[in-house]
Amino acid sequence: MMTISLIWGLAVVCGIWVIFGIRRRKAGEPPLENGLIPYLGCALKFGSNPLEFLRANQRKHGHVFTCKLMGRYVHFVTNSSSYPKVLSHGKYFDWKKFHYTTSAKAFGHRSIDPSDGNTTENINNTFAKTLQGDALHSLSEVMMQNLQLILRPPGLPKSESSVWVTEGMYAFCYRVMFEAGYLTLFGRDTSKPDAQRALILNNLDNFKQFDQVFPALVAGLPIRLFRMAHKAREKLAEGLKHKNLSKREQVSELISLRMFLNDTLSTFDDAEKAKTHLAILWASQANTIPATFWSLFQMIRSPEALKAASEEVNGALQSAGQKPSGEGNAIYLDQMQLNDLPVLDSIIKEALRLSSASLNIRTAKEDFTLHLEDGSYNIRKDDIIALYPQLMHLDPEIYPDPLTFKYDRYLDENGKAKTSFYSNGNKLKCFYMPFGSGATICPGRLFAVQEIKQFLILMLSCFELELVESPVQCPPLDQSRAGLGILPPLHDIEFKYKLKHL
Ligand code: HEM
Repeated sequence: MMTISLIWGLAVVCGIWVIFGIRRRKAGEPPLENGLIPYLGCALKFGSNPLEFLRANQRKHGHVFTCKLMGRYVHFVTNSSSYPKVLSHGKYFDWKKFHYTTSAKAFGHRSIDPSDGNTTENINNTFAKTLQGDALHSLSEVMMQNLQLILRPPGLPKSESSVWVTEGMYAFCYRVMFEAGYLTLFGRDTSKPDAQRALILNNLDNFKQFDQVFPALVAGLPIRLFRMAHKAREKLAEGLKHKNLSKREQVSELISLRMFLNDTLSTFDDAEKAKTHLAILWASQANTIPATFWSLFQMIRSPEALKAASEEVNGALQSAGQKPSGEGNAIYLDQMQLNDLPVLDSIIKEALRLSSASLNIRTAKEDFTLHLEDGSYNIRKDDIIALYPQLMHLDPEIYPDPLTFKYDRYLDENGKAKTSFYSNGNKLKCFYMPFGSGATICPGRLFAVQEIKQFLILMLSCFELELVESPVQCPPLDQSRAGLGILPPLHDIEFKYKLKHL
């Protein structure tokens, strides 16, 4: 009796779901995949391998299609020649809603959208003012000093400095970039150098713990389900409270401007403001660390890349009158000199092309028609329009032999930056998008490339470098973070380094 009622109950629930829970495609809308699982839709298939899932739907439906993912309807536009057209529909898009809600969920602050009344700060203006233009000069200068302090600490005994060290390359990049990046944004406590180092290492452990659950938080799971990560997040935020930051020197313009913002209408207390600083810490580190690893790994692994990069760096240091010395004298290259390193630029771009898997998302503010070159599509209010640039980055028509690292892929015949890439015989406006696009393009992208370049310059000019295993297999990408940006390696690889006798 019980079993029969259960079967009837299930049948009724399924019936209701079929009638009301699944969307029916209307005329003029893109082809639709509802998926078989209520609410989740296609989320499990998408999550297990986004690239293959999107390629399979592209083959089935063509370049534009809709998938139900976690209760939302997402319209994927998959041909890169349509990206500029999609972005030109900006007046129909709300790009803030998704970003601000995700940030609030992951970092534990309330909405930072001024229209929600918690703050008057236009945070995008703050980013543009403090991460680009003139502000970038001082940010880069401080980053270079910090990198050198970490890589070549002054007063290192000769016995220690001239030995080979073997370490995981990802662990090494994580340690160096986290410490240098943290000090550059949040300043340093010069009164207690030893305590400061312990604090940074502690922050590094907490950051790793928190970052591990980040994909789950973005997917909507509450942080309370992850006790250790929750604790780690609270500890990281504690260190970023005003009372702690105000003891630090050389705090970046970005953070000091936000600390002393004349935001009289703000309802954020010190603890909540610290969580918004934590969001900035995450944004500045989570992609930069794996991007640094892939740039170093791909460069060392390819003898031609290593040779070309070493020659470029030696030449640049020579013409700038800079010479690394055994005494640890600081090296400095200004913005112009850093910008004039096409080989390093090409190596970094190629490393990011191969490892980037970001999802560019916009929400439809109202019903509208998306006009693309090959057709028009009706989109409903609150639906999501998404671009997944990894499809473009690995398209063999745009990038022949797409899975191979070619250090000079982004160099033209004159050795300058190459900007002509084609699909279907048409020159592409968008061919490289690891930093997102349009209104939500990463505001830290210029700084990110400069800090990776500075790191590579120091590794090339001050260290002898060797892979422990040579030739080494390229580690697979950790797909569990697909959608979030640069994917880390699934496992580390060992390398050896030793300070050069200069
Ligand atoms: C290789 C390193 C980096 C990569 C690949 C990267 C990539 C991205 C991407 C894909 C987005 C989201 C764009 C979108 O939603 O369309 C983003 C946002 C952001 N990035 Fe980066 N990023 C990097 C480094 C940095 C650095 C070093 C900083 C700051 C110092 C930074 C600050 C930010 C901020 C603040 C946002 C959020 C902007 C907003 O919500 O409007 N990023 N980044």
